[in-house]
Amino acid sequence: MPVITFTHHKGGTGKTTSCLNCGGFLNKKGKRVLVIDCDPQANATTGLGCDPQEPRKNMYDVFMSGTDEFEAVALKEIIVSTESGIDLCPSSLDLAGAEPYLYEREDRLFVLKEAIKPILRRYSYILIDTPPSMGQFVINGIVAADHVIVTLDNGMFARTGLEALQTIFSDIAEITGTPVSADMAVITRGRMIQEEMTPGEEISRGFRRLLGLKNEETTSREQFEEIVVFCEKFFPNVFTIPYDILIHEAQKQGLPLSEFAPESKAAVVYEEISSAIEKLN
Ligand SMILES: Nc1ncnc2c1ncn2[C@@H]1O[C@H](COP(=O)(O)OP(=O)(O)OP(=O)(O)O)[C@@H](O)[C@H]1O
Ligand SMILES: [Mg+2]
Repeated sequence: MPVITFTHHKGGTGKTTSCLNCGGFLNKKGKRVLVIDCDPQANATTGLGCDPQEPRKNMYDVFMSGTDEFEAVALKEIIVSTESGIDLCPSSLDLAGAEPYLYEREDRLFVLKEAIKPILRRYSYILIDTPPSMGQFVINGIVAADHVIVTLDNGMFARTGLEALQTIFSDIAEITGTPVSADMAVITRGRMIQEEMTPGEEISRGFRRLLGLKNEETTSREQFEEIVVFCEKFFPNVFTIPYDILIHEAQKQGLPLSEFAPESKAAVVYEEISSAIEKLN
């Protein structure tokens, strides 16, 4: 019953997308999957078709359990089923308000790990989505995990971010006495590779520039390959997700690619990643 956490302290590296799409393919293979949304932005909640503004118990209540006069709320009380077949522990913007309370708790690093224990046997995989920060929710996610999947973008700061993350993992290992199993990196090509742009894409970029619209940034093939080589030094499994516009469409529909567009470019790699996840031990 592995618990897998998707993390990177930088924003927009593909944590949520990877969490939902790995979950989608594991679910399609007949595994029982729970996604725990530990991000106040609640993108995983929205991405599974749940409205984070709808009043319901959520991760805020779980993290507040045991503080001040708050009633104890177990993870199992907040689980919702989603259209994709994945179960979800939803988040909401309120979750941001729980973080200062956590700093006051001695057991703050282990709140999520302890909360997961009673439901471990119900699921084949528990996937945790974390926010872009280095706060308590991220640390709780890493401490609770059997495996950590680091997501990176292909921008120029990817390498620096990875070095910072290694330091954080070793600090967590020192505090908890258990090494962090960061065995997989997923590099998201949110930026197009200059050399791979089709003539159509180049023309469309030209027009966008003429109209004064913001272009998606690009990266050079050389820069991109450097990132891959660098990641291979740290991680036994390194995957690259191609740029895929259908990712946005799937998220808007509240479905993972496994349901929305299983043949799409990114879906094919996410299916491979889900098979690699099954082989982690
Ligand atoms: N392979 C891809 N191709 C195109 N767009 C992508 C791809 N992967 C992710 N995106 C888009 O990039 C944006 C950031 O992705 P995502 O939300 O998964 O990152 P994140 O790390 O969870 O962000 P945050 O740090 O804010 O939580 C989203 O709009 C998503 O739809
Ligand atoms: Mg996210």
